[in-house]
Amino acid sequence: MKIFVYHTPEAVPKNVALPDCAIAVDVLRATSTIATALNSGAEGVQAFSDLQTLIDVSESWDSTHRIRIGERGGKTVEGFDLGNSPLDCTPERVKGSRIFISTTNGTRALECIQAAKTVLTAAFINRATVVEYLLQHQPETVWIVGSGWEGSYSLEDTGCAGAVVEGVLKAGKIPLEELAGNDEAVAAVALYRNFQHDLVSLFKHASHGQRLVGLKLYEDLEYCAQIDSLNVLPIQKEIGVLVKH
Ligand code: MLT
Repeated sequence: MKIFVYHTPEAVPKNVALPDCAIAVDVLRATSTIATALNSGAEGVQAFSDLQTLIDVSESWDSTHRIRIGERGGKTVEGFDLGNSPLDCTPERVKGSRIFISTTNGTRALECIQAAKTVLTAAFINRATVVEYLLQHQPETVWIVGSGWEGSYSLEDTGCAGAVVEGVLKAGKIPLEELAGNDEAVAAVALYRNFQHDLVSLFKHASHGQRLVGLKLYEDLEYCAQIDSLNVLPIQKEIGVLVKH
């Protein structure tokens, strides 16, 4: 297995063969929300980069079993049911419903890898399930793609990519030089090791973490920092639709 880390969707190589397994990461907060919603019993999570397309597609869904999540700049989009806080995705709210989600960056990252054979999403909260999947299925090539922020690097996504690589290294007893497909994968592990005992502090250094604190969403940071806390693996069952593995 070779793991390649790309910090942003823009850094993903074009016109090359897609990997056997591609993993989207948007720790703050889309992939934390997706994992939480599926863990709380949502029927599936359908991701869109475009808000109007989300509205059009979700119109045909029974309104009692449909939840629209819309976020831009960390805030809830007007007219949407929820605004991308994982804390809102309680079983009482989401069980049995299809979630239709569009966020600033996370859903774009998912879109850029959606044609891969296997597509997963990772956050710190479900890191262990991703590691377990990789060790069990042994895909030859793996891409971990951070969402970044509007084209630029996000500390927390690369930190989470490093946590996944570190998990595979440790449990699989594979040396880093064998596992790392690019320099970014090595850097991601170093970043994770530096902050592994205080992920909230990693978030506080991150520009989007600071943005969320400014929006008084500090509890979201604390929740998203709980590494390996959920036993749920989101996997794409059809283009754009994630379900519990
Ligand atoms: C994103 O897609 O950029 C995020 O998930 C933003 C957020 O809701 O915190």
